[in-house]
This record gives sequence, structure tokens and C-alpha cells, in this order.
Amino acid sequence: MRTYDDIAEWYDVWVETQRTFFSQSMRAVESLIGEIAGQRICDLACGQGRVARYLADLGAQVVGIDLSAKLLNIARGYEETRPRGIEYLQADAQNLNSEALGLFDGVVCFMALMDIPDLAPTLHSVARILQSAGWFVFSILHPCFHTSQSGEMETPEGTVRTIGKYFVEGYWRSDTRTGPPGKIGAYHRTLSTYINALTDAGLQLVHLSEPSTADPLPDSPSLARLQRPVWAEVPSILVASCRKVTSKQSV
Ligand SMILES: C[S@@+](CC[C@H](N)C(=O)[O-])C[C@H]1O[C@@H](n2cnc3c(N)ncnc32)[C@H](O)[C@@H]1O
Repeated sequence: MRTYDDIAEWYDVWVETQRTFFSQSMRAVESLIGEIAGQRICDLACGQGRVARYLADLGAQVVGIDLSAKLLNIARGYEETRPRGIEYLQADAQNLNSEALGLFDGVVCFMALMDIPDLAPTLHSVARILQSAGWFVFSILHPCFHTSQSGEMETPEGTVRTIGKYFVEGYWRSDTRTGPPGKIGAYHRTLSTYINALTDAGLQLVHLSEPSTADPLPDSPSLARLQRPVWAEVPSILVASCRKVTSKQSV
């Protein structure tokens, strides 16, 4: 199985082709995290650091964490070219140590939970490194519309998303997709698995968002014209915000 170290250079180039998708998704993330200037934030599974830089530009003090040494090197290269005070650390999201990392006001995990093999230990890690009542915002490939057997079908009414094997959890890889699910694959979980794992980790769901490519962007026409029309019919990603349950709340 390939890892992100094997595709680090490709990934750095590929994200550049995804700028409009990134703007739209980060707009959804930003609307859930609110004002973050001065906050200490962890960008979990930060990759080459595009989200870390975005958050630092909003005034946050950012620590980027990832498993891939090569992606972290690329991220550090961007930091060297234009310093924003971002610190990059190599660690496994499934096993974070709050004594070593310190506590954070918030954790963002952008388009990465479905790349991490074990969800429960990852969410417990998030809860461990959060301050009491700290926030967690994540985005994932929408689990209802991306499975090992998902695709598109042309009908007289337009393109329709087709889904099979929704209940089959675990690793899958596509031979036809051009993004990460084709390059290295991903781990599918049902929506209920995600929600129940959040609750089990003491992370209370606050808000869900399902951006549509038909939504207008402030600086460009709607994404529907730029991306596949099916993503104006069903959501490609799911964005969620959660709050760490304090021990008082949990009794
Ligand atoms: C699709 S990339 C997203 C990267 C970044 N958040 C972005 O939006 O560009 C998924 C990331 O998850 C990281 N990753 C996978 N497993 C991990 C783990 N166990 N611990 C930390 N990072 C992990 C990969 O190295 C990769 O950078």
C-alpha cells in the first residue's frame, strides 16, 4: 500500500489544481470556527500546510502535525519562504501525547480523517490535546456519497451519483479517480460510525455543513461551472464542528 510519503511531490502539485474547491471548503470551515486570532490551533494531518497557512493568516498560532516526513518538509519549505510562525511536527494522529504537544484552543482536521486507519484512537487523541471546552472542526469526503462503489450515471434528467457498498467499512482504492482515493485510497466509514465515535471520544457535535458547488463564492462564479455538475446535486464533503465535553457536562 502506498503512503503519503510516496506521493508527497504529486500531492503538493495536485492541491494547487484544487484552489477553488479549497476556497469553498475553507469558507465552510471558517464559518464554523469563528474568530481565531490569538488562539493556539492544531492543524491535524496538515500535509504540505495549506490549512495551517490559511489559519495563521487569520491570526492563529498554528502547530501542524502530520505523519509524512516528506509533506512536512514541503510545509517547512513554505514556512521558510514566507514565515508565519507555524511549527511543524511529525506525529501519528492516532496516538498524540498532550504532555509533549501542550493543549490547544482548537483542532482542525481538513480532508484527512478518511486517510487515517483508526478513527476511535484519532478522536481520543483530539480530545486529549484540547483545552476544556475546546473546539474541533473537520471536513471529510462525504461518507454517504463516496464509497468503494460510488460513481456517476447519465440520465435524461442529468448526472446522478450512484452509491453501493455503503455498509462496507474499511480500506478502498479507486482505479479511476484522479485524486488521493485513486493514488493511495481511503478508509470508508458510515455516517453513524463517525457520529458515534465522536460521542465516545467526548466530542459533542455542534453543527454540520454540506457545501454545494452551486453556492456562489465571493470572488468567482459558482463552483458548479468549474467542477462536475453532480456536486451541485449532492454534497461532496461534510464539514462538522464539535466541542469537547467537560467532565461536569458528561456526568
Ligand atoms: C488528503 S491529505 C490532507 C492534508 C491536508 N489536511 C490538506 O488539506 O492538504 C491527508 C493527510 O493525512 C496524513 N495522515 C495520514 N495518516 C496519518 C496519521 N496516522 N497521523 C497523522 N497524519 C496522517 C497524510 O500524511 C496526509 O498529509
